[in-house]
Amino acid sequence: MGGKPFFLRDPEDNRLEVGFDSPWSSPEVVARFSSTPPNAVLMRFAARQLQQGVGHRLLDIGCGAGCNAVPLARLGWDVLGIDLSGPMLEAADRRAQEQGLTDRLRVQRAPMDRLPIADDSFDFIVAHGIWNLARSSHEFLAAVREAARVARSGAPLFVYTFSLSTFPPDTKPIEGEPSIFTQFSGRPQCFLTEAQLIEELHHAGFDQEPETSITEYPQLATGKRPAILEGIFRRRESLPVRVLAEAEEAPPEPFSPVCYLKEFTHE
Ligand SMILES: C[S@@+](CC[C@H](N)C(=O)[O-])C[C@H]1O[C@@H](n2cnc3c(N)ncnc32)[C@H](O)[C@@H]1O
Repeated sequence: MGGKPFFLRDPEDNRLEVGFDSPWSSPEVVARFSSTPPNAVLMRFAARQLQQGVGHRLLDIGCGAGCNAVPLARLGWDVLGIDLSGPMLEAADRRAQEQGLTDRLRVQRAPMDRLPIADDSFDFIVAHGIWNLARSSHEFLAAVREAARVARSGAPLFVYTFSLSTFPPDTKPIEGEPSIFTQFSGRPQCFLTEAQLIEELHHAGFDQEPETSITEYPQLATGKRPAILEGIFRRRESLPVRVLAEAEEAPPEPFSPVCYLKEFTHE
């Protein structure tokens, strides 16, 4: 074992484990995600939200190398990017430094399903290419519940996640996990239908933004990218009792005091 440490959640008992050499931390993957262009639909929506004065605190869950987080900070959002990969966070922070945006973009290493963040803290939540990495429905639901907990009432949520239409209809999920499939990358990942996405988010406290529809991007012919569902939701005024109870049962990981980038690069 060697390389940089990363954290994974055990799908069985939800323990936080330290692993090494995360696939997300390899120099090639970090370089690829460092040159990914931002999501143009997200940027337009985020710019409009700022103009409408919905607030300025934005959480980018699984921010990677900052392909969205950096331009969002440039738009004027105060962004907190969280991710499990130190090298991804370093790349995001480097880009923020190069662009003079360090006062607008902070990064923190944390798992999507245990956000070390107080309730009702953010005016806008971005979950772009992250919830599809859940390796169990437990992890997926915990991640969505955490997003609802840290969003303030009325905060928008921008979601970009894998669609089940990636696979032919008879494709089998892993046993006991109807939404988790290994066929795309060899690793367990979460694939949903549009109806499932809407329903799961609704249960957690997010409703689809009125007069918007979910966009489905078909799978690339190369097969290198899965089909994608993209949509805009909003945190309901009050969270379902179940979500509040679960959040209380599983308080955020003891990552505090907050471990910002400068602390963990010297590990
Ligand atoms: C596909 S990349 C998406 C990055 C960025 N949001 C984008 O769209 O370019 C997924 C990111 O999620 C991070 N990640 C994977 N599992 C995670 C988890 N359980 N909690 C937080 N971040 C995670 C990876 O390190 C990686 O940077």
